[in-house]
Amino acid sequence: PHTFHGNRRQALEATAKMSAIIDHLGQLSAIAQKLNIPITTAQKLRKSDNQIVYLMADLGEFNSGRSDEVVGLLKIGMKDLYLFDELGQSRKVDNAPCILDFYVHDKRQRSGLGNKLFQTMLSEEKWEPVKCSVDRPSEKLLGFLKKHYGLERVIPQANHFVLYDGFFEQDKANEQPNVMTRSRRMLMANRYL
Ligand code: ACO
Repeated sequence: PHTFHGNRRQALEATAKMSAIIDHLGQLSAIAQKLNIPITTAQKLRKSDNQIVYLMADLGEFNSGRSDEVVGLLKIGMKDLYLFDELGQSRKVDNAPCILDFYVHDKRQRSGLGNKLFQTMLSEEKWEPVKCSVDRPSEKLLGFLKKHYGLERVIPQANHFVLYDGFFEQDKANEQPNVMTRSRRMLMANRYL
């Protein structure tokens, strides 16, 4: 994390710990989505540009030494995509903001944690929900976006991304809809319970 301060040994220890956490949550997310291979691993993250993983930790659990103290993961990124707009015209969108992987621990779902994690990401990135493209959303994520952000009307695509009405509308204050403010970071969204 960009907030980390420490010597080389501590940095290596922290890297190993963070990698284990990311791999574990990535694996749980894959199981929840019935995927054969996790979308998120520490190794994939290391190799990719323009991707960020947000982790949500319950510090109460953390201090008690339990292993499931990290309760959520949200991976986002920027991708160059060929997309259809509302009129069905093909458009190339550079650096489209994407929701790539999202998981809240099975026992903690439906208690508002996912929304807190998502809100943290939106406010950090200064992204609007309607300007996010979503990579192969699950039924749970479709329900989540409808419930919290009123996102329902999709713009049909030929690929596996889901886009909502309003994606192509120009932001008056800013020509570019969503801009990732830093190139690659990991942030801990702590203690949202
Ligand atoms: N069945 C149907 N809808 C659900 C379910 C469920 N089991 N769980 C969450 N939702 C939706 C509903 O709209 C729900 O509102 P409701 O309880 O009033 O019906 C809403 O999400 C709850 O919002 P939060 O509590 O803020 O969200 P939560 O902490 O549950 O996190 C998340 C949402 C991340 C989608 C979580 O349910 C999860 O991890 N699901 C399993 C993995 C998954 O499907 N991830 C998305 C994959 S696609 C991708 O990442 C691009």
